[in-house]
Amino acid sequence: MGGESLQPPRGTRDFYPEDLRRRDWLFAHFRDTARLYAFEEIDAPILEHAELFTRKAGEEIVEQLYHFELHDRHLALRPEMTPSVARMVMARAGGLRLPLRWFTVTQNWRYERMTRGRLREHYQWNMDIWGEPGVAAEAELIGAIFTLLDRTGLPRGAVRIRVNSRALLEESLRRGILARRPEAFAPLCVVIDKIGKIGADAVIDQLADPAGAVGLARAEAADVVAMLDARTLDDAARLGGEGSLALADLRRLFELIDSTGRGGDLVFDASVVRGLAYYTGVVFEAFDARGVLRAVCGGGRYDRLLETLGGRALPAVGFGFGDVVIMELLADHGLLPDLRRTIDEVIFPLGEAQRPAALALTGRLRTAGHSVQTVLGTPRLKKVLTDAAADGARRVWILGPDELTRGVATVRDLQSGEQREEPLVS
Ligand code: HAM
Repeated sequence: MGGESLQPPRGTRDFYPEDLRRRDWLFAHFRDTARLYAFEEIDAPILEHAELFTRKAGEEIVEQLYHFELHDRHLALRPEMTPSVARMVMARAGGLRLPLRWFTVTQNWRYERMTRGRLREHYQWNMDIWGEPGVAAEAELIGAIFTLLDRTGLPRGAVRIRVNSRALLEESLRRGILARRPEAFAPLCVVIDKIGKIGADAVIDQLADPAGAVGLARAEAADVVAMLDARTLDDAARLGGEGSLALADLRRLFELIDSTGRGGDLVFDASVVRGLAYYTGVVFEAFDARGVLRAVCGGGRYDRLLETLGGRALPAVGFGFGDVVIMELLADHGLLPDLRRTIDEVIFPLGEAQRPAALALTGRLRTAGHSVQTVLGTPRLKKVLTDAAADGARRVWILGPDELTRGVATVRDLQSGEQREEPLVS
């Protein structure tokens, strides 16, 4: 064994203590924000039946699945959390009090082509609302994203949210191009989601590929791509027509976000359709306003996912917010927190004879809630003091034979350098 096998697999990370302190800091903000919005945390296995994830709309996420067969079972590491949450909702359908607000913080696996901000495992904070068809749910979720961003210290405007509605596009296509083939809509969205990556011409090629799932005529494909240029709700009105329900929803959503004072950070963008097949309505993505990094988070409404899994339809909307891009963004803004290790007390028995008394003291302090490190072995006092300072300890308790006969310990405060005696009361 050696070489590559001693490295973590490409695109995966080891977390050393300093890395984990940062990750915990971010996760604490995820969880605290979810609590502020009164969401409850759930969890599910990292491994699921592969079938839960293998949809047939040509999504990248399905091609990137880490999957294997074991004892005749086809299993996969979850690439995202939404199907597992849907499975859990479905298992208790009827018994759940709606609307339901659930969140998760989980590791997900995708065999990605790696670029900045995209790894092969990442953690995602998901917030989902089930059972609410109105855009008040979207407003709540978008509010939570802004709250999280504020908490990290990012200045307002550093991240904006682009919003669109697949329903708007679907309404106009169903009246025309897709009138007789509504099933082509999901694969069509999957293709046009790639426009930023592969360009308009390649998207038109794929939409017009006679062997593809969409199969439009070339002129129709070009018309679809032209619809993605709308950047204001008034442009969108021309697409959907004034009677459009999807447009009314978008207008209401902007109004609601305006009332929270964040209207300036929400922008309409018809080119945002998202790459997952299950979205049906409003879709959104938070992005780095400098245009440097990939999406900070993304989500949308998926009112038909339960049906596709064989359950009864239930409106749902949510987002996934990864740990990788936000950390890159915070680093670019010089906002990564410098989190030091801290412990309260270091207990140093000068010799093995003083260890029982040291252990008794350690126990008392831990019971009182202090974090206590007992010095192992019998290093020199100088090393103990240097190590204690490097570990972020506040005090060092020195227990020597003299101290013990007098029933005390010498306590050194590492910040002030002062030293005093403390009784070793039991
Ligand atoms: P997604 O857009 O595929 O959506 O992922 C959501 C977020 O997860 C991305 O915006 C990004 O922050 C992060 N992410 C995804 N893939 C990677 C990767 N390879 N490396 C680093 N970060 C990544 C979903 O997964 C949906 N299930 C979200 C959702 C929840 N929609 C409704 N509810």
